[in-house]
Amino acid sequence: MKRIGILTSGGDCPGLNAVLRGVVRAASNLDWEVIGFHDGFEGLLPEGGDSMALTRANTAGIMHLGGTMLGTTSKGHFITKVGDGSNRSHVPPAVLAQTKRTLAALRIDVLICIGGDGSLTTAQQLHEAGIPVIGVPKTIDNDLEATAMTFGFDSAVACVADALDRLHTTASSHKRIMVIEVMGRHAGWIALYGGLAGGADIILIPEIPFCHERVAAAVKKRDAEGCLSTLIVVAEGACETDGKERFRSTATEGEFKLGGIGAVVSNEVAHRTKKETRTCVLGHLQRGGAPTTLDRILGTRFGVHAVEMIAAGKLGEMVSYQNYEVGSVPIADAVHRIKLVLPDCQMVQTCRAVGISFGD
Ligand code: F6P
Repeated sequence: MKRIGILTSGGDCPGLNAVLRGVVRAASNLDWEVIGFHDGFEGLLPEGGDSMALTRANTAGIMHLGGTMLGTTSKGHFITKVGDGSNRSHVPPAVLAQTKRTLAALRIDVLICIGGDGSLTTAQQLHEAGIPVIGVPKTIDNDLEATAMTFGFDSAVACVADALDRLHTTASSHKRIMVIEVMGRHAGWIALYGGLAGGADIILIPEIPFCHERVAAAVKKRDAEGCLSTLIVVAEGACETDGKERFRSTATEGEFKLGGIGAVVSNEVAHRTKKETRTCVLGHLQRGGAPTTLDRILGTRFGVHAVEMIAAGKLGEMVSYQNYEVGSVPIADAVHRIKLVLPDCQMVQTCRAVGISFGD
């Protein structure tokens, strides 16, 4: 008989509830109990923990729901990594001590931490402090090393593709340029996959610095070919050659808020081409709503595998998806750096082959 603790940490994403449901079902097959902590790691801090028992009954009917039934936060006492990872800190000893007291009081044998790069960096520190931990990779950004895919990514890509489908008809009716700014702080996976799926003409990502002249030249070339409307996808972290990211605000706790590059691109391209341009910031629509079928399946498989890892004693490891199989890797392998788009990777080459410009 084991008692599993579980929490969802960092930005929410579609598929979190599918993982919770998968864990509960696989655990109950073994007669193990599951205790869910509220609001990420923060739920470990109140005396006795801020938690609830997760059962087959209260996790039924949640797989198709976005968000997380446990709540989450990307702020608080457990932040260990801000930005691209060059800036790391440690969970304070008093916070670690309180975490251990809570887990002991609730007789938790192992803690499943569902999170992205930052949250799994924290999970790794808990593991190094002697707390039995299992990681489950989550992020719409798909920027975690050591797993081919995270759940949430496919839902975000579907949202971008749907938005582009809608923008396409209005752009072509008015012969306009439409610029859509999408999420992706350091990595351009959402822009790249969403852009290709949605028929974008220009994709700007953090890994390939762009130049406004080249973006305008790509639009003019399309005009010369008789394609009088253009769809431009810009990742929020995209930068001009020798440029810097655009910050919406730097004054908050946790991650800096990026944003604004879409409007900049829009103004610059309008000025250079003299064409009518409009901007759309897709924002948190990409994180909300129902998970795609792929994310429901991935989430369920990840949850079930996390329980199998506990049974196999694979502590300090993270669920990993490689070659259509779910396995595991040390959490440390996943958090030492962010998984970026390689500028010469096959996806980028495919995009170029169908005429997509990267503004470079
Ligand atoms: O990490 C996922 C992510 O969606 C980023 O792409 C985005 O910059 C960030 O979260 C925004 O998060 P929030 O608005 O919740 O701070």
